[in-house]
Amino acid sequence: MKTVKVGVVGCGDISTIYFTNIAKFDNIEVVAIADLMMERAQEKAGKFGGKAMSVAELMANPEVEVVLNLTIPAAHHEVDMQALNAGKHVYSEKPLAITMEDGKEILDLAKKKGLLVGCAPDTFLGARPQTMRKMIDDGWIGKPIAATAFMVCYGHEIWHPSPEFYYKTGAGPMFDMGPYYMTALVALLGPAKRISGAASMTYKQRLITSQPLAGKVIDVEVPTTVSGTIEFANGVIASTIMSFDIWDSNLPRLEIYGTEGTVSMTDPDPLAGPDIFHGETKFRRASDSDWTELPYDLPRKEEATPWDTIPSIYNYNFNSRGLGLADMARAIRNGGDFRANGDVAYHVLEMMHAFIKSAESGKYYDMQSICKMPDVMEMNMTEFSMGK
Ligand SMILES: NC(=O)c1ccc[n+]([C@@H]2O[C@H](COP(=O)([O-])OP(=O)(O)OC[C@H]3O[C@@H](n4cnc5c(N)ncnc54)[C@H](O)[C@@H]3O)[C@@H](O)[C@H]2O)c1
Repeated sequence: MKTVKVGVVGCGDISTIYFTNIAKFDNIEVVAIADLMMERAQEKAGKFGGKAMSVAELMANPEVEVVLNLTIPAAHHEVDMQALNAGKHVYSEKPLAITMEDGKEILDLAKKKGLLVGCAPDTFLGARPQTMRKMIDDGWIGKPIAATAFMVCYGHEIWHPSPEFYYKTGAGPMFDMGPYYMTALVALLGPAKRISGAASMTYKQRLITSQPLAGKVIDVEVPTTVSGTIEFANGVIASTIMSFDIWDSNLPRLEIYGTEGTVSMTDPDPLAGPDIFHGETKFRRASDSDWTELPYDLPRKEEATPWDTIPSIYNYNFNSRGLGLADMARAIRNGGDFRANGDVAYHVLEMMHAFIKSAESGKYYDMQSICKMPDVMEMNMTEFSMGK
């Protein structure tokens, strides 16, 4: 299959893993690279190949079929609109946009132009969440009835080299980490129906302790603790906390409770939940005397074990960012649906706003958008791979 040609806009912290992985996928290829800071584009071009150029040149380049938008959230809408107006498909880092209006404008323009919109996160396509999805679909925990999702930590100013945007409009724990958790819940349970929320800003200012900006103070614009409930269209009720104000906790990252058992993402690290492709996973059924650890990342054993009948997905049990883009490239060439798509991203954007709107109004927020539950990853997908 002819590779889909990608133009990357934004060469900051997250771009390195995309460049590294795109070089391995056999159906996508970086041909053009841009950043407001030209030296960043040049550095990536020198290291990974592709040609550094201005954003305007990239948008005008006829070779570029998809713009991969790795800019900060405040620039997602502007860059997506530029790309679509230039006749390119677009795949953006999360969130789709800051406001729902901007998110809808992106989807409407793409539809009008017959172009595709993809959006991170694609971590829900990883080995762990896909194994959990298969377990649920195959009835291992019975009928799902409830869920929990907890991302509680003390903010990114202790490690990120430029953490300011995490406290500005469009970020905060809900809009920065929420996309992983909400997308994972939608991928495991389907779309949400209504949401209730409460939100607070614990500190008006945050002190950066990571280099190179250590000592600088950030003025906080967004709630830094958001809590609430989600009622899904399938009847499941979820409880969630997203916080940058909590030093430590013993909460699990994400659990799904069914009539016959529980499946759990158990990592103690708050940044090792649905924001990664792999990680600790356990399940326990009514008949089990203890938890069983899911060995999704181990080779299948010869001898019979409880998990031999779980169709674990062993691919993508590492940082596979770009997988959603490769899946979208498959759809560009072969047609059909792709998983990390704009409809899911817009639904997730509305869910995140729903917590805040409910907190402000003191009332439930009824979801207006709907999306299709993304298809499970096929175990032996041959249409594309990381084998380049
Ligand atoms: N850093 C992470 O660990 C991480 C993880 C997952 C997702 N993300 C997401 O990736 C995106 C980027 O995050 P980051 O950490 O790489 O940020 P960053 O600040 O390190 O990099 C962003 C880059 O985009 C460039 N840029 C900004 N506006 C632009 C515009 N209009 N045109 C061209 N270039 C522009 C900046 O110059 C910068 O080089 C965000 O949406 C974030 O939510 C980040």
